[in-house]
Amino acid sequence: MTRPVPDRAAIEAALDEAYQAGLAKCAHGHVATYIPELARVDPSLFGIAVHTVDGVTASIGDAAHPFTMQSVSKIFSLSAVIEHSGERVFEHMSTEPSGDAFFSIVKLEEEKGQPRNPYINAGAILTSDHLPGVDAPDKIAHFQAFLGRASGLEAAAFPVNEAVFRSEAETGHRNRALAEIMRHHKVISDVEVAVETYFRQCAVTCTAEHLARIAMFLTNAGADPLTGEHIITPANAHGVLALMATSGMYDEVGSHAIEVGLPSKSSVSGAVLAIAPGRMAIAGFGPALGQKGNSIGAMKALGVLSKRLELSVFR
Ligand code: DON
Repeated sequence: MTRPVPDRAAIEAALDEAYQAGLAKCAHGHVATYIPELARVDPSLFGIAVHTVDGVTASIGDAAHPFTMQSVSKIFSLSAVIEHSGERVFEHMSTEPSGDAFFSIVKLEEEKGQPRNPYINAGAILTSDHLPGVDAPDKIAHFQAFLGRASGLEAAAFPVNEAVFRSEAETGHRNRALAEIMRHHKVISDVEVAVETYFRQCAVTCTAEHLARIAMFLTNAGADPLTGEHIITPANAHGVLALMATSGMYDEVGSHAIEVGLPSKSSVSGAVLAIAPGRMAIAGFGPALGQKGNSIGAMKALGVLSKRLELSVFR
């Protein structure tokens, strides 16, 4: 049975409750510090944005505050890559959860430089390397153009935060090590291009309101429900979402499935994007992270929204 899309009044009431519950959690988290520039972010920021397939938009709190996409970018680079060159990126990557931290190096050497999935760092670096273009600026321009097309905004709405890019480029030794292992196994060809593209992609700026808008194509089998524009094929949208459900929340994918029940993707900058297929995209932003590196405020808020609006795909 197809469930109805909640109306504005229901969404606003649920958003209010979710915001209060999420905000209360934020005091118990900490911002990411391993990228020095991220350590400067205010941990009390918190906001949520909703876009429905019927064109209802609603937001609360710091939903227009800019942040760097970090790992949320991985679902859009995968979308852009498979739309451009099909399954080629999966010739050297599987689609299984890793069971390890997103930055882990352990299985990569054991598994001959083949990342477990596109949402851990190794898989995302490989995916970034597959963006069309001859060098990192070229590949990032393609990525930004994809975001522009998906959101109906200008690509310029998604600039690279140069300070965050430099900060990660100067300190991202483990990501370079992942790329070197993949280079050793001939899975990528140029470490510098791959990591520069990945670091720049992670430093692309957006807001919760923009994030929910960009992701609308994932609510509607790859087409923007508001304009009808084809963004990616239905089969590709299915794959991107399925991987979000199995690997989008790292080591909290199980509890998130129980509490929220929506394909989701988190980032160390504090974003959690959740997709209710056929209904809405929800973007939470709260840079205070819990022990597993996911935004505790956004996860709590998504749990409340999912219950109030009956969104879980497992119900
Ligand atoms: O590679 C990194 O460490 C960051 N640029 C992105 C990591 C990230 O967002 C993981 N998400 N939870």
